[in-house]
Amino acid sequence: MTDTTTEATRLPLMFQPITLRGLTVKNRIVVSPMSQYSAVDGAPTDWHLVHLGKFASGGAGIVFCEETSVSERSRKTYDCPGIYTDAQAKAWRRVTDFIRGQGAAAAIQLGHAGRKVATRAPWDGFAPLGPADAEAGRPPWSGLAPSPIPFKEGAMAPKEMDRDDIRHVIQLHVDAAKRSLDAGFDICEIHGAHGYIIQQFLSPITNHRTDGYGGDIEGRMRFGLELIEAVRAAWPADRPLFFRGSCVDGRGGIWSMDDTVVLAGRLKERGVDVFDCSSGGIEGPLTLHVVPRVPGYHVPFARRIRKEVGIQTMAVGLIREAEQAESYLQAGDCDFVALAREMMWDPNWPVHAAAALGVPNPHNLLPRNYSWWLQKRVETLALASSQQTQ
Ligand SMILES: Cc1cc2nc3c(=O)[nH]c(=O)nc-3n(C[C@H](O)[C@H](O)[C@H](O)COP(=O)(O)O)c2cc1C
Repeated sequence: MTDTTTEATRLPLMFQPITLRGLTVKNRIVVSPMSQYSAVDGAPTDWHLVHLGKFASGGAGIVFCEETSVSERSRKTYDCPGIYTDAQAKAWRRVTDFIRGQGAAAAIQLGHAGRKVATRAPWDGFAPLGPADAEAGRPPWSGLAPSPIPFKEGAMAPKEMDRDDIRHVIQLHVDAAKRSLDAGFDICEIHGAHGYIIQQFLSPITNHRTDGYGGDIEGRMRFGLELIEAVRAAWPADRPLFFRGSCVDGRGGIWSMDDTVVLAGRLKERGVDVFDCSSGGIEGPLTLHVVPRVPGYHVPFARRIRKEVGIQTMAVGLIREAEQAESYLQAGDCDFVALAREMMWDPNWPVHAAAALGVPNPHNLLPRNYSWWLQKRVETLALASSQQTQ
């Protein structure tokens, strides 16, 4: 009989399974959310199936779908996906069936862009939609936010949220979480980073409220914490809940790591399993905390939160090399390593990382349709090399 436990622990940590609540993930490599601006009527398309499918067949343990909106009004662009209709949930089901069929966990990132809505795509500089777009059938619309401050010059001012709006937006997240379950997702992440609505409440740059949802950090955290409590109650107890936070504002903000440690502690108390460490997204008049883009640039944040709060963490940001990723896990800086652009460059990154770390027969991480042939490739190459040396 094979002792699978011993075999698993002989693997590099990155390739050892990990259990979160009722979900066991085959390894600690995560495909980070990557917006594609390719949805139609808020539903994922063939592009999403191929884009995400290749990461699942490439061996990652968790495949995150991109930020997916909880309502039509909260989308960044007309081409962003959502999960606010049953038709959208059905379209996601096709994608999650494929991801899970490859042995990966399917994760959704639920988002509400708040004031950051009605923009063009990144390759058009996220410019606010204007008269030319309206003429082309894409009129701008106004978002919702804690305070009526436009996110950019030329953008429409968002509506300042009243108590009913707050209740409604929380309910939209609950409904989206329930639909995510129907759509076959194993993991739900709430997008609290990158200037989305939760961060708009957290940051004093965007939250000028004088009621119980503004003011000191307790007031500014209140919306996000109420939202998390509601989603946790709706998302099954045996499925993990992640939260992506901007550990520091990154560009112009005054939200610090000390604040993030407080927030992460409150999230943990409310049943968040993993704090996904990112940064940035709120712009303002100050110039604090620019996070230099060095390899693993969010790892120090993940380390501190994991150590001080005792919550599992995920690090992202220029993680490219196998040894680099493994070293963060071995050092106890994080429990998961997430990659975005590197996965675009090499969707089979997990296989190549396994090879670099000396995992025997790394091609076996790929589906049998490939791995059987790649074993033949190994044998053929060995034969060719022995014939050359004769
Ligand atoms: C094309 C693209 C789209 C992205 N979309 C999202 C998104 O939907 N949600 C999110 O939280 N981060 C998004 N990000 C940020 C990534 O998830 C990741 O945090 C960032 O790119 C840093 O990781 P990397 O250095 O491995 O690319 C996106 C990044 C890229 C390159």
